[in-house]
Amino acid sequence: MSDEWVEWHRQYGSSGMLAGRLREVQTRIRAALTERPPGPVRVISMCAGDGRDLLGALVDHPRRGDVRARLVELTPELVALGRREAERQGLAGVKFVEGDASVERAYAGAVPADLVLVCGVFGNIRDEDVQGTVRHLPELCAPDATVIWTRGRFEPDLTPTIRTWFRDSGFSEVSFVTIRGTTASVGVNRLAIAPRRLRPSVRLFTFLPVEERPSTRSKERSAGAGRPRPAGLDGGEELENDGLELRSGR
Ligand SMILES: C[S@@+](CC[C@H](N)C(=O)[O-])C[C@H]1O[C@@H](n2cnc3c(N)ncnc32)[C@H](O)[C@@H]1O
Repeated sequence: MSDEWVEWHRQYGSSGMLAGRLREVQTRIRAALTERPPGPVRVISMCAGDGRDLLGALVDHPRRGDVRARLVELTPELVALGRREAERQGLAGVKFVEGDASVERAYAGAVPADLVLVCGVFGNIRDEDVQGTVRHLPELCAPDATVIWTRGRFEPDLTPTIRTWFRDSGFSEVSFVTIRGTTASVGVNRLAIAPRRLRPSVRLFTFLPVEERPSTRSKERSAGAGRPRPAGLDGGEELENDGLELRSGR
């Protein structure tokens, strides 16, 4: 697994889709931090990779010293890269854990979180696991917590259903943004119900083998149909808000 994901992260340098998605995620992280009341801000990141979304957002953010983050990632090389960058930035409150992010016990001691990052996960697991993860998120969240998530909108586009699952699970929608010319999208939701207690034994999802992942199957279908790859893979970076931006009145 490790080589695959180290390679995947290298595409941040060449893929307009990933670069555009990253910018949007970082913008939303910064906004979520700005909105938090004074004091420590707890952050968790599932399958965090090298943590560049959070670390990049914190570079010059006024609340960077308030952040107490746990980033859970399985690939040792990515954890090492992330730790080095966090140290270089002097972010003592940002901790990487090398381990399995798919069980709630991975977050014991780091929750309830004010900000939950679920980026690069939903395209790699079964639809039922996406739904289950969303349903269990209130067990990881503090009151009014923000969840930032991503999912490709390749066919069949699951994002309308995911947005419904968030609403059904007690979250209001803050924003849903698509990256123009690409299949990427970034959702932001806020917990609107009372949080629930952590259930350490709950398994949230199982990362699928590469050939079974929805994201992989979509590429195969596109190739089989002779359709071009999404434009954003090599350039399109414009952000496109789909007009459904809903802001809660914090
Ligand atoms: C698509 S990448 C996303 C990385 C990062 N969140 C981002 O958006 O840049 C998926 C990551 O999940 C990690 N991963 C896969 N299964 C995992 C698991 N069970 N627990 C923790 N990390 C896992 C991989 O090593 C990889 O870094």
